[in-house]
Formats: sequence, C-alpha cells, structure tokens
Amino acid sequence: MTISVVILAAGEGTRMRSDLPKVLHCLGGKALLAHVIEAAQSLQPKNIYVVVGHKGEAVQKALAHLPVQWIEQAQQLGTGHAVAQAMPHVQQPGVVVVLYGDVPLVNSVTLRELVEKAKQSSIALVTAKLDNPTGYGRIVRGPNERILRIVEEKDASAEIREIVEVNTGILAANAEKLANWLAKLRNDNAQGEYYLTDVIAQAVADDLTVDSVFPNSNAEILGVNNRVQLAEVERHFQRQNAERLMIQGTTLLDPARFDQRGTFHAGKDVIIDINVVLEGNVVCGDRVQIGPNSVIRNATIGNDVRILANCVIEDAIIGAGSRIGPFARLRPETVLAENVHLGNFVEIKKSTVGRDSNINHLSYVGDATVGSCVNIGAGTITCNYDGANKHRTIIGDGAFIGSDTQLVAPIEVGAEATVGAGSTITRDVPPGGLTLSRIPQKSVPHWKRPQKKPKT
Ligand code: UD1
Ligand code: CA
Repeated sequence: MTISVVILAAGEGTRMRSDLPKVLHCLGGKALLAHVIEAAQSLQPKNIYVVVGHKGEAVQKALAHLPVQWIEQAQQLGTGHAVAQAMPHVQQPGVVVVLYGDVPLVNSVTLRELVEKAKQSSIALVTAKLDNPTGYGRIVRGPNERILRIVEEKDASAEIREIVEVNTGILAANAEKLANWLAKLRNDNAQGEYYLTDVIAQAVADDLTVDSVFPNSNAEILGVNNRVQLAEVERHFQRQNAERLMIQGTTLLDPARFDQRGTFHAGKDVIIDINVVLEGNVVCGDRVQIGPNSVIRNATIGNDVRILANCVIEDAIIGAGSRIGPFARLRPETVLAENVHLGNFVEIKKSTVGRDSNINHLSYVGDATVGSCVNIGAGTITCNYDGANKHRTIIGDGAFIGSDTQLVAPIEVGAEATVGAGSTITRDVPPGGLTLSRIPQKSVPHWKRPQKKPKT
C-alpha cells in the first residue's frame, strides 16, 4: 500500500521569539524540519508533503535540497485545514501519515508500527501518558478502552483535563477516508480552528476502530515551542547519540559533555574526553584519542592519532599515528600524512605535510607543501600573502627550518637543506647545505649603557 507523509510546518512559532522560522532552528546542527523529513523517509513513502505558511519561502529555500513537495497554507486555520491542503495531491488508495515539523525526535520504529495499525483499522494515533498533560489534546476512551474522541485542552472540561493520555498529533489514516472526514470539519470550537483531531470522532461515528501505539520513550513526542524545549530536545538527542556511540565501542569520558552535530564514524577503542564538539562529517580510525575541549568539523582522522586538549580542526585529513596539539588549529584543506607532530600554537592552512614531519611550536604554515621528515622550528612563518595574492611555499624532504624563520612565498626550500634560525628567506634555497640570512653578530666591548640624567 502506498504511503504518503504530510508534515505540518505552517505555524508561526511565536514563542520562539525569533526571526527564524521555528522549524529551521537547529537540533544537533540540523534544522528541526530536516529531522522530521528524515524520519518520514524511513517509511519509504511515495511522497512527502510539507505544509508551509508562515515564512514558508525561507523554509523552502533553506531545505530546497530535500526530496519533498511543498504545499502552501496561506492562512493558518488549524491542523485539519493544514492537512486538507495536501490531500488533493495524496495518492489514493493509500495511507497518510501526519507528522509535525516541530516534533523532531519521532522514531522510525514507532512510525512503522503506527502504519501497520492504520492499514488494519483505517486510523491509528500515537498517544502517550504524561505526568503533566497540560496543553495537549486528551484521548477520551470508552468501554473496552475504545478511543472515542480527542478533546483539545482549551475545549476540555475539568474532568477531561484529568486524563493523562494525550494526543501526540502523530497519526496515520486511510487516505480516502481521511479526505472525506477533513472535508466535513467545522471550526465551532474554543480556538475557531479546523482541528485535525476532530476526525477521530468521525471515524468512531463511521463505526471504525481507532487504534493507537505508544512511543518507545516519551522523548520521541516532545514538541519544540520555545527555546527551553529546544534545549531539552537537544539534550535528549545528544544523549541518544552518545549512548549509541558507547554501545558501539567508543569511550566517552562524560556523555553529557559530548556533542555531535553531524555524522560520526568511529573505529575501535576511540576515547573522547570531555567538551568535544564534532560537526559535519567526522570519520575516525581505531584507537584515536581526542583530548578535552576540541572542536572538529569535517575531518578524517587515521588510526592511533592523538589530538591533545584544545584543538580546532576543520576540513582536514590527519594521517595515522599523528599527534596534534595541545592548542593547534588545522584550517581547511590541511592534509597530514602519517606520524606528523603538530604542537602548541601551530596553525596550518591549505597545506600538505609529509610523513614524520614535526612542526612543534608557534608556527604558521599556509599554502605550503611540506615534505617528509621535515623539522620546522619554533616561530616559523610562511609569508603567503603579499596583500593581494596568496603564494605557495614548498619545503623538500628532510629539510630543517631553524626557529623564527620567515619564508617569503613563492619560495622553494630544497630537500635536506638547513635554514639557519632567524632567517628571512626571500629566494629559493638549494638542497642540502646551510642557508641563512642573518646580520653577523658583533660585540662592542666596554660599551656603557645610557645613564639616567640626574634630576635638576
Ligand atoms: C496539536 C493537537 C493536540 C496535540 C498537540 C501535540 C490539534 C487540533 N491539536 O495541538 O491534540 O496534543 O498538537 O503537540 O491538532 N500547523 C499548521 N497549520 C495550522 C495550524 C498548525 O501547519 O493551521 C502546524 C504547526 O506549525 C505545528 C502543528 O501544526 O507544527 C501543531 O499545531 P499547534 O497549533 O502547535 O497545535 P497544538 O495546539 O499544539
Ligand atoms: Ca504545538
């Protein structure tokens, strides 16, 4: 049976107090709505319709890359009205699944179970029992626990407000039947809206059974209405990720202080210290150790790499056995071969560094090709920018660059060359031998320091 998904995302999200549409706020580095779309995709539906309204253009533009059909709901007249906008497009016969753009943790296992129940009984809901059901629609059950209707909080009597089983908003229904019920909705209620929830009473009037499933955990059905809830949902999401990683064999010294905002693949026996943030796509080999307070974005990290405390790494490839930091910064297009050592206060940009090379202290290496077994002394700078253009520095295998050297690019240092400390190198350095540019040292014996003038 074909499955179509309708995601409601037209609401204004006033309580976020934001210029950004609510569904574009991020969870784990990705828009809330993108999480819901991903959950929808797990059902392999024929189509995913996203109903947008408030700032709908911004939403469409931000998520234009996702394979969904956008439906406009010009005026937000209620959840029932919103679903009705999509119904003319939905394939019949089939099953329609309704999701909310601001309920991002919804789980594919629950959704599959929901769809199975809807196939058998025409309509099924995800409901949950909450300690504090305030604000939610309540599930009214009759004899034999049969679901009779949903009553919105604002329309509920004191007695109905006592009910702790709530409507999560997520449902699946037979497409033809849902279209008919939606066409008959009325808005004579406390909010003057066309409530999607009113289709339940119609199904019951048609003598159909309304089935329900519980989520695996109530976190799945948490909605985001304000930034407090956004933070709560983020913590749940991070906790889930962290647990998955630990179960798969990664040590997190404190799972509450680890944040993954993208994809992360870790090899065996990876150890991650506290306050590490991973963004984008990070791939890590076996036995990698990441020290505290590092931010790593889009990186491929080889086996046995050690990243010491306080490193910032972006768009980099780090060869096996390398040791980075503490306090190192790897900027985009850094490629390190095996067993490279980068020490404290070293910045590398758009450069490759060959195997077994060391840049251990206080250096800037940009737009450079550094060979293997090179030693770059403390305080070395590639002067890659002339104020208008960037130029390359090439350093041959086995070269030794003395401390406090400036390499004024474009420049090439030959293999096995030694550059004396404190040199400003402006012309190519031949291989082997010693090159230095240094004013010869002189000493002035018997020289007297200036004296302070006596006060008059
Ligand atoms: C809805 C349910 C309620 C349930 C709760 C769960 C109805 C009538 N009520 O209430 O039973 O307990 O969700 O969170 O369905 N939206 C549109 N267009 C509209 C109105 C809403 O796209 O015209 C979207 C919103 O952007 C939001 C979702 O639908 O993503 C839910 O709307 P909201 O107004 O928050 O519904 P609730 O009052 O929370
Ligand atoms: Ca809501």
